[in-house]
Amino acid sequence: MDCLLREERERTLSSHSNNKTFAFLKPEALQSRVAGEVLSRLERKGFLVKQLRLHNITRKEAETLYAVHKGKPFFQELVDHVTSGPVLLMILEGANAVDVLRKVIGATNPQAAEPGTIRGDLSLSITANIIHASDSLENARKESSIFFHDGI
Ligand code: CMP
Repeated sequence: MDCLLREERERTLSSHSNNKTFAFLKPEALQSRVAGEVLSRLERKGFLVKQLRLHNITRKEAETLYAVHKGKPFFQELVDHVTSGPVLLMILEGANAVDVLRKVIGATNPQAAEPGTIRGDLSLSITANIIHASDSLENARKESSIFFHDGI
């Protein structure tokens, strides 16, 4: 009985979009061969990979994805960077996915990112900071829909 209840709870949780988020590994993660390590850290934290796709981000997609940063001094460099090579797009599932993933990846700037976080341990610069993750459920829905028809 307990087992049936647990399975039912897991089904309910996993069908709930509150428990999903969007992320992608930036080109340097693949170039520097740490994509497997990052995925492994995410799985160890309990995330379930629901979608995973290698993709070359177009300039149009990058400008849509990062529209909120348009006009900022780093915008062009950011667009140039994420379109410079393949990225690994993903939809992840886990309890409180948006917030937990943001904690696991750490601060945007590698100098501020705590050791033990993905960026704290692996990122090269504020632009080449290994991984992007949506900062809210609303943005996770918007961002995932740029790349996945059956997004979050
Ligand atoms: P990301 O999580 O992909 O979201 C926006 C990106 O802009 C951020 O990670 C950084 O890679 C990049 N970026 C570059 N310079 C800055 C900056 N000064 N402040 C915030 N983000 C920056």
